[in-house]
Amino acid sequence: MNRAPESAERLLFEQAAKLAQSAYAPYSGFAVGAVVVGPSGRSHHGVNVENASYPAGLCAERAALAAMIVFGERSLRHVAVAAVDGQDCLPCGLCLQALAEFGDPAIVARMGGEVRVVHLSDLLTAPFACGDGARGGPYGDGAAEAGP
Ligand code: THU
Repeated sequence: MNRAPESAERLLFEQAAKLAQSAYAPYSGFAVGAVVVGPSGRSHHGVNVENASYPAGLCAERAALAAMIVFGERSLRHVAVAAVDGQDCLPCGLCLQALAEFGDPAIVARMGGEVRVVHLSDLLTAPFACGDGARGGPYGDGAAEAGP
């Protein structure tokens, strides 16, 4: 279900850990950085951005996903996520659903104290998809582009 990271994957994780230092997390103190990579191989960055109105906060993974979409990519290959101080951090359920819209990426994260690689589909086995499958869909790959 999970495996050791290759050297390029370890580098992505280290990038994410460095990004975590730029997070805005004054309420939880749990600073997170994320790097997502699409078919171009370019890294897109995100951090968590909290808010005095707690539900208005944004996770690092969805911030990085938005950066990838702005760049024009619609498919995910890798997602690296890291919290400060070497704490374990896997993407939350909401982020897993958001990421599943764009494929079944390898997720590089610290779990049980070790950096490991796991596929999104191992963490979220049944993502929501619209009934007719015309857009989005489980582990979609930019299918939403086809919609009106
Ligand atoms: N957080 C992330 O940024 N990514 C995750 O996958 C889990 C949680 C953030 C949200 C919030 O700002 C803080 O971590 C504590 O939950």
